[in-house]
Amino acid sequence: MRLSDCHNVEDFRTLARKRLPGPVYHYIDGAADDEATKARNTEAFSDCDLVPSVLAGVETIDMSTTVMGRKIAMPLFLSPTALQRLFHWQGERGVARAAEKFGTYFGISSLATVGIEEIGRTISSPKMFQLYIHKDKGLNHALVERCKEAKFDCIALTVDTIVSGNRERCLRTGFSSPPRLTPSSAISFATHPRWTLDYLFREKFELTNLKDHVSEGTNVALSVADYFNKMLDPAMDWRTAENVRAQWGGEFCLKGIMSVEDARRAVDIGATAIMVSNHGGRQLDGSRAPFDQLAEIVDAVGDRIDVICDGGIRRGSHVLKALSVGAKACSGGRMYLYALAAAGQAGVERILGRLQGEIERDMKLMGVKSVAELNRGNLRWR
Ligand code: FNR
Repeated sequence: MRLSDCHNVEDFRTLARKRLPGPVYHYIDGAADDEATKARNTEAFSDCDLVPSVLAGVETIDMSTTVMGRKIAMPLFLSPTALQRLFHWQGERGVARAAEKFGTYFGISSLATVGIEEIGRTISSPKMFQLYIHKDKGLNHALVERCKEAKFDCIALTVDTIVSGNRERCLRTGFSSPPRLTPSSAISFATHPRWTLDYLFREKFELTNLKDHVSEGTNVALSVADYFNKMLDPAMDWRTAENVRAQWGGEFCLKGIMSVEDARRAVDIGATAIMVSNHGGRQLDGSRAPFDQLAEIVDAVGDRIDVICDGGIRRGSHVLKALSVGAKACSGGRMYLYALAAAGQAGVERILGRLQGEIERDMKLMGVKSVAELNRGNLRWR
């Protein structure tokens, strides 16, 4: 299977599985407990159908939208995800350049493997920094200041990860960052020599933005669960979020809001966006899917804040359904991570091109010329 054989997210998932050592693939693909929430995040889109209008004269369409103060060329962006140079040596650099080509947001994780400053310097398209609140308050403060210096467009504070979800695939494979040599991982690395040579002989793998602050987390091979449980601050509360917003002073998003009440509180503390998200099912299994919860949240706060539907997106039609309910945009992680793992920046560009093509084609088939025309009248629930 080659890049040109990959026409959709599932094709890239298949190729990623071939190209990556098992522990790394399962870190991306896996989720918490029984992975029921991860499955539901995508299945939820099948509970309603699109109802097209015909003869609408849709020669040209405009799929741009404005989110967190920046216009983006397509209503889908790249959620922040950790450790990208582990998936392909181009890592965050390749992903950010692909996002730039498509004129959409790139989200860089606190646990990224390239620097905030480098992304700020080299990428002109909209940039989001994802903040985890660490117990080390000096680190949190420093990260926000660095985002200011690097002229990021927004900060997304992840609020659903005060402890790690129970990711059993990672327990089984012994996944850690950096990867640790065990008998079974050694076999997996040996049978994926291309990945292993890249890992060993390209740039040193590290958590670039944390290395000066968190020596324990970067020098020792830690499971991601251990990292979260040791380093992140479970005492984080609304006051913490408000303080980050005040220090940052710019577009501020809460990532991981699921309840209407929390969405209202996000407005109250001055957030300008929320990502309705359960972290791709990697945290609380049994949590409701973002798309299932979207309408209630849009009805409560959609006129005051940008509501983003994050997770489960595998098709352009999923984006159209979320926008019809009232989301400003959608975002996703695995949709581009499989492509990164399969083929680096070229893979991410190909999947973004395919998804952009699906959104454009589906808008034409729906008879809408702009995303503003999408509304609940375009949907029927089964
Ligand atoms: C993530 N996600 C995530 N979120 C976050 O706030 N900080 C992070 O560092 C990461 N890291 C991360 C790694 C991997 C491998 C995955 C798959 C996900 C969650 C991510 O931002 C997003 O919410 C989910 O990926 C959305 O679900 P889908 O699109 O993967 O179904």
